[in-house]
Amino acid sequence: MKLIIDDAHIDLIKHIYEFYPVDGITTNPSILAKVGKSPYDVLTEIRSFIGEKAELHVQVIAKDAKGMIEDAHCIVEKLGKATYVKIPSVPEGFKAMKALTKEGILVTATAIYTPMQGFLAAKCGASYSAPYVNRIDNMGYNGVQVAKSLHDIFKSNGLKTEVLAASFKNSQQILELCQYGIGAATVAPDVIEGLVKNQAITSAVDDFVKDFEGLVGKGKTMSNLQ
Ligand code: E4P
Repeated sequence: MKLIIDDAHIDLIKHIYEFYPVDGITTNPSILAKVGKSPYDVLTEIRSFIGEKAELHVQVIAKDAKGMIEDAHCIVEKLGKATYVKIPSVPEGFKAMKALTKEGILVTATAIYTPMQGFLAAKCGASYSAPYVNRIDNMGYNGVQVAKSLHDIFKSNGLKTEVLAASFKNSQQILELCQYGIGAATVAPDVIEGLVKNQAITSAVDDFVKDFEGLVGKGKTMSNLQ
């Protein structure tokens, strides 16, 4: 399962890239709004940090297929061919997806709440289909189950589309999908850090250092012993 960062703050992105094995960045209009700067300035900075071949997902804003296609062309022209254009999985979106994938533009179908939305997007040629796990949970349904169903539908129908599960609020949701072997999960920086934020882990590591320093002296490590 690829692990992607769901954020557009460059400092947070750099921090997560420094410590964790991540595979790219997803954004959406709300995420860009939180940064509060010119969208293309923010996205260009992200692109130059992650490199031209890394995955960057950027959403269209237009509501009709023609406008979505124009947005997509502009996004790819400014941010490069490894940019996945996120298109909402609604009728106008499906029309745009069909046209864009025919041109070879990479598409991530987004705003997915039901398996059949994802199935239709996959048939339109989307590379990824993004179910909103936590938002589905908040509606009283099972977001993890929707993501698993999508994965099964793609495999049993010979579709190349992968699940890019999105909207996570806790480690358990990610763990279940990781165990299931879905294609990718996009996760906010604080939730990525929460995957290993655990007092038991910190104490275990601290105790090892304390025991070692008790043996050979404070500040000693394996590289500065006599
Ligand atoms: C990704 O495609 C979604 O836009 C995003 O993960 C939604 O996350 P949220 O429900 O935390 O806003």
